[in-house]
Amino acid sequence: MKPSKFWEFFDTQAAPLLAHREKTFRQIFTYLDSLNGPVRIVETGCARLKGNWAGDGQSTVLFDQYINLRDSESTCITVDINEISVRACRELVSQRTKVIQQDSVQFLSNLVKEYTANNQTISFLYLDSFDLDMNYWQPSAIHHLKELTIAIRALNSDSLVVVDDCPATADFILNENNTVNFITRPRVGGKGRLVAEFADAVGANCLFAQYQAGWTNLV
Ligand SMILES: C[S@@+](CC[C@H](N)C(=O)[O-])C[C@H]1O[C@@H](n2cnc3c(N)ncnc32)[C@H](O)[C@@H]1O
Repeated sequence: MKPSKFWEFFDTQAAPLLAHREKTFRQIFTYLDSLNGPVRIVETGCARLKGNWAGDGQSTVLFDQYINLRDSESTCITVDINEISVRACRELVSQRTKVIQQDSVQFLSNLVKEYTANNQTISFLYLDSFDLDMNYWQPSAIHHLKELTIAIRALNSDSLVVVDDCPATADFILNENNTVNFITRPRVGGKGRLVAEFADAVGANCLFAQYQAGWTNLV
């Protein structure tokens, strides 16, 4: 299923502004197109500033456009702890996208119970909550691993999980002449660093690992 009106919107209005996320958002929607039937999108960390395409990514605006232009049954639900973000996001999306104010881990815990009770699974889980401090990445990476830990019960092998803000990291030796010798390969860093370690450990299928990192086959 290729919703041509969505792709027209994406190519003309979003792609030129998305900068380092353009290619991976394109991969995300291409993947969603390959799934049959309605899709269920669940996001942590909603769009909080109108027009902030290159900065945050305007993810919720994109997901809202996608479900509206794909079919009448696909859903999008996003959670954010911050009242101001939630209020701003509600101004940016249609009524079909539910914007909930709560801590994401608590929210996912309840959502997963509801989904499993109804035999439903998440088609696409987008993790972009707890802001990243590059010098102290651990709290953010731990929070995103917690989100995956709870949500995994509502995933199936085709579910796509994407983490935003994952600039690559590597260990290196700084030489006297200021050149560097890499002593590890570059790997997923930032918000997705621990999710990536988990994904590697369970043999998940990595679709892309750039500024955003995405996997299927996590279960
Ligand atoms: C980077 S922004 C999300 C950007 C958005 N996905 C976009 O593309 O425009 C991160 C958001 O996560 C929210 N957040 C931080 N900690 C959270 C938590 N524990 N639970 C839910 N949301 C949280 C912040 O309030 C903020 O609005």
